[in-house]
Amino acid sequence: MAPRGTVPSVWVLGAARRRQLSRIVREHAEGALGYPGLMSVGAIVLAAGRGERFGGAVPKAFVPIAGKPMLLHALAAIAATPAIDFIVPVVARTELPRLEDLATALAEIRGIRSAVAGGAERQDSVMAGLAALPAETELVAVHDAARPLVGPAAVTRVVDAARVSGAAILAVPARDTIKRVRGGRILGTPLRSECYAAQTPQVFRVDLLREALEKAAADGFRGTDDSELVERIGVPVDWVSGETSNFKVTDGDDLAAAERWLSARRADAQEAIA
Ligand code: C5P
Repeated sequence: MAPRGTVPSVWVLGAARRRQLSRIVREHAEGALGYPGLMSVGAIVLAAGRGERFGGAVPKAFVPIAGKPMLLHALAAIAATPAIDFIVPVVARTELPRLEDLATALAEIRGIRSAVAGGAERQDSVMAGLAALPAETELVAVHDAARPLVGPAAVTRVVDAARVSGAAILAVPARDTIKRVRGGRILGTPLRSECYAAQTPQVFRVDLLREALEKAAADGFRGTDDSELVERIGVPVDWVSGETSNFKVTDGDDLAAAERWLSARRADAQEAIA
């Protein structure tokens, strides 16, 4: 068992748990189980942030990438994973009317549910999304609309890991050496081989995430991702490999990079057809 409050690698899990995980993944691939008999999985796609670094009148999630709002790319990316049964978009209350203009495009997204209004903090938005998921939902995948490029293989990986352990996230190894700083001073240098950048989706058993959110609210604690909240109630969280293309669109440079990724993917797809 990994120490509490850390994010252990799947590779340090016990051999029995690794065997269980790979059996489940293999059985899915072979279609032996089929998703319907498994846990019901809902997704919350968070788009209620202000995206202040973007400036402009349009909130970040509605900024177009390759002619389509970022939120639609993120929803479509999540819907492309057969393991996801329902999807609840969470947008700022003031932006709900924008979704009416996108009604036709939204209706084409598999598993889409009505959007709900988010809150002032990310955690409030997650709570609002959680409340809107169907009662039968057992696992919840929380995804940032600001990560519109996630691929179905990564989403499947993290859902499958959470089916086994109850809590799993996507992460990629830190490329740079990470420094802890305060003001102009370096406080310390964590071992780079132990530093990973967390991505979304992050997938949890619904009861665990709800408990973690309630505890954080009671303590007045604000985390920067959901894993942190689950870690602090003492639940070990596993990680599986994320993707470099699953970066968070934070500024104009990221937007341009996302455009490049999408046109490269489109060119690949056309080449495959030709
Ligand atoms: O704050 P950060 O940039 O990490 O936000 C990650 C995601 O959380 C974004 O997709 C943003 O729209 C969402 N968010 C939200 N409600 C908030 C704050 C952020 O849905 N109050």
